[in-house]
Parts: sequence; C-alpha cells; structure tokens
Amino acid sequence: MNSETLTITDNRTGKKYEIPIRDGAINANDLRQIRVSEDDFGLMSYDPAFMNTASCQSKITYIDGDIGILRYRGYPIEQLAEKSTYLETAYLILYGELPTKAQLDEWSRNVTHHSILHENIKKFIDGFHYDAHPMGMLVSAVGALSTFYTDAKNIFDPGSRTKQTHRLIAKMPTLAGFAYRHSVGMPYSYPDNDLSYTGNFLNMMFKMTELKYKPNPVIEKALDVLFILHADHEQNCSTNAMRGVGSSHVDPYCAVAAAAAALYGPLHGGANEAVLRMLMQIGSKDKVPEFIKQVKEGHGKVMLMGFGHRVYKNYDPRAKIIKQVADNVFAVTGRNPLLDIALELERIALEDDYFIKRKLYPNVDFYSGLIYQSIGLAMDMFPVLFAIPRTSGWIAQWEEMLLDAEQKIARPRQVYKGAGKRDYVPIAMRK
Ligand code: ACO
Repeated sequence: MNSETLTITDNRTGKKYEIPIRDGAINANDLRQIRVSEDDFGLMSYDPAFMNTASCQSKITYIDGDIGILRYRGYPIEQLAEKSTYLETAYLILYGELPTKAQLDEWSRNVTHHSILHENIKKFIDGFHYDAHPMGMLVSAVGALSTFYTDAKNIFDPGSRTKQTHRLIAKMPTLAGFAYRHSVGMPYSYPDNDLSYTGNFLNMMFKMTELKYKPNPVIEKALDVLFILHADHEQNCSTNAMRGVGSSHVDPYCAVAAAAAALYGPLHGGANEAVLRMLMQIGSKDKVPEFIKQVKEGHGKVMLMGFGHRVYKNYDPRAKIIKQVADNVFAVTGRNPLLDIALELERIALEDDYFIKRKLYPNVDFYSGLIYQSIGLAMDMFPVLFAIPRTSGWIAQWEEMLLDAEQKIARPRQVYKGAGKRDYVPIAMRK
C-alpha cells in the first residue's frame, strides 16, 4: 500500500477508501466518493472559518505560527525589515525574486509615475460627508478606479496586469492622502515625484504651506519598515476576500475594494485602532490588573486587543520588530504616554495562565497604533495605513490565483439545516 495515503472506513456502509495525501493535505473532493447510496451527494468536510482548510497552493509567504516565523518568498521578515525598502519588498512579493538595480530603478520609476489621480476622483472624494471615515472613502474610491481604467478588465493580458499593478500600488497612498485631507477639511496635497514612497505619502498627509515638504528621515524609515511588515500575510481574511472576489474574474480594482473592505473590520485591520482605544480607556498603568481581570472573567466578551492570532501561537515576529521601530520613533517624537500601559499589559499577560494556556501573544497591531499616533496619524487612518502596503500582497495573491490551473470561481458548500419542502401559504391564512 502507498504510505502517502489515508485509509478511511465508513462505518455506515463498512466500505474502505484509500485517499492520496499530497503536501500534507488530502483533497476534499476525494471525499465525494464516500457515499451511502447512489443519490448521495458524497461526504463533505465542514470547516467554518477555514480553520483547517487550505484553499490554495502558494509560493508567496511562509508562516510557521508555532515558532513565530514569517518569510516573503523565502526571505526572513527580520532581514527584509533591516535591509530592504517597501518598494523592493513589494517587487519581491510580486515577482518572486529580489530585483537587480536596473529592475528596481524601473519598478520605482513606474510606481512613482502613476501616483497622480484623475481629477474626477478628487471630485468623487469631495462628495463624501465631512466626517466620512477615511477607510470607507478608500474602499469606495479604489473601487471607483475600475470605471477609469476599463483596460483593467483584460485580466488575462499580462501587460494589462502589470499596468494595473503599477497604478494600484502608486495610487493607494494618493487616495489615502486625499481621503485624510478631506476628513480634516484640508486642501489636497499632490504627489511629489522627488520623494520616496513613504516620504511622498507623508507629504500628501502633512504638507502645509511650505513649497517643498521634507519628511523626517527617521519617521520616513519607520513608516517604510511598517509597510514592509504589512506587505503580505498569506491567506488572511482580506487576502481570502481578494482571491475569492477575484476568482469571479472581476477587475483588480473591484477585487482590491473587496479586500480593503474585509480589512476594515475590527478583528483584522481595525485592531490597532481598537488597541489604542483600549489603552486610552484603561487610562493608567495601575488600572492594568483590573482590566486583565475583566478580560479573563469576560471569556471572550472583553478582549485584550492586539493579542492573539489565528496562525501565531507564539510572539508575532512583526510585533518584535515594531517594538524596536517604536524606540526610534519615540526618540524623535517623544515617548507616547500610552506605551507604559501597553508594556504593563504585555508583561502581566505573558505571565498569566489565561493567556499562556491559550497561547495569546502580542500581534502586529499591539504596538503599531502607538507609533502611528506619535507620528501624528489619526486613528481613523490606521486601517488605511494597513491597506496601502498590503496592496502588493493582495495583487500578488490575486495573480497567483488567476494563473493557477487548479483554481475556479470560489464557491463553498454548505450543510443545509433549514426547513424541508413546504407549500406556500396565502397571507390571509398565515397565523
Ligand atoms: N483577548 C482575550 N481572549 C482572547 C483573545 C484576546 N485578544 N484572543 C483570543 N482569546 C481567547 C478566546 O476567547 C478563546 O478562549 P476560549 O478558548 O476560552 O473560548 C481562545 O482565546 C481562542 O481564541 P479564538 O477566538 O478561537 O481564536 P481565533 O483564532 O478565532 O481568533 C483573533 C484570532 C480574531 C485574532 C483573536 O485572537 C482576536 O480577536 N484578537 C483581538 C483582535 C486582534 O488583535 N486582531 C488582530 C489580528 S492580527 C491582524 O489581523 C493583522
């Protein structure tokens, strides 16, 4: 018998089945042959929230959550954070290899020269209410780009995909900057091609009346590292949305809008905002033990935001890097007073049985909000700051899905638990 197989005995029928194991997984479709009768649909696997289902094969990002490893295309996140730049990392994620000098120059030039938005997009953003959330504006505006670039529909044309990739990576910071300026009632600041990717983003956020905006190099570098850390994270909720929506062969702007919408939620990209609100609500270091008590007694109702992860059952490697970045930023901006509360929360939680037993460690969001706040980035902007760098990961995953011969339109099965057949009752006869 082939040892790379799984033998299943169906106790309902006494029949035995041998199912191949490939790359540590069985193919769920192989279960369909397991039936009790000819008209039986066949056995399915039931897996709400995809707790143990691989939906694709991927060569982009590797995570070992038990020991806290994250690699893009094989390169450890620690090395990329120390030595790379966001644009170089985005190239690596998209194309599989680190670029040569010439490739990086061309890539940077292409991204830089696509950062301007059509003036009508500005009018579109003007139309939002004065207190609209910047993430809501970003989700809508990136979807609206689909109406400006109708060539994006040619998703199987590699040239068109490359063009939309440049446009999306280039225009997300501009959309984000415009959304922010609209939300605070400031005139839009246009892209400056002389600046780096993150320097230019800071320019579109913070430029006032000066003729030329000069980003602080420490802040610019810190933001670049944060962008590297957020560039991809394999099959998370928003990437799954990108792949799922993209599998209908819609254009990438609509698929990115769907992914960004998924990222908006407080359990995903909204978590760092929730961390900051939690820290402000706790208020001081001496109130931390009381808050931890509430979390433990709340059994899932009061969460320690920024802790826990579906995949990491160890310290999130990104959180470690972010802690170092925080020190560099606070040296420039002054120490964020909420940091002491965060450090105390971490110290107590990591010693507490409740968190140890459940393997709850700080995730990427635990400290990132503190940095963003110190830089002067409003809390509403936090999910937006996640969406900008994650766009490279979304596009890489979308393209991998499109070119994967095993992929089809995403369409899960269900276990139906509703009413059996019944006859329509006219309204006058209903009780
Ligand atoms: N605080 C307190 N308890 C927690 C926390 C937390 N942050 N996270 C999980 N738990 C508890 C759960 O209540 C559960 O306890 P139980 O076994 O007694 O029922 C146990 O730990 C397991 O948690 P699950 O909810 O099953 O873990 P899951 O993998 O489904 O959830 C998630 C992961 C959503 C990230 C969760 O840990 C959470 O909500 N954390 C806070 C929000 C957050 O920080 N999100 C950012 C994630 S990183 C990112 O998206 C970039």
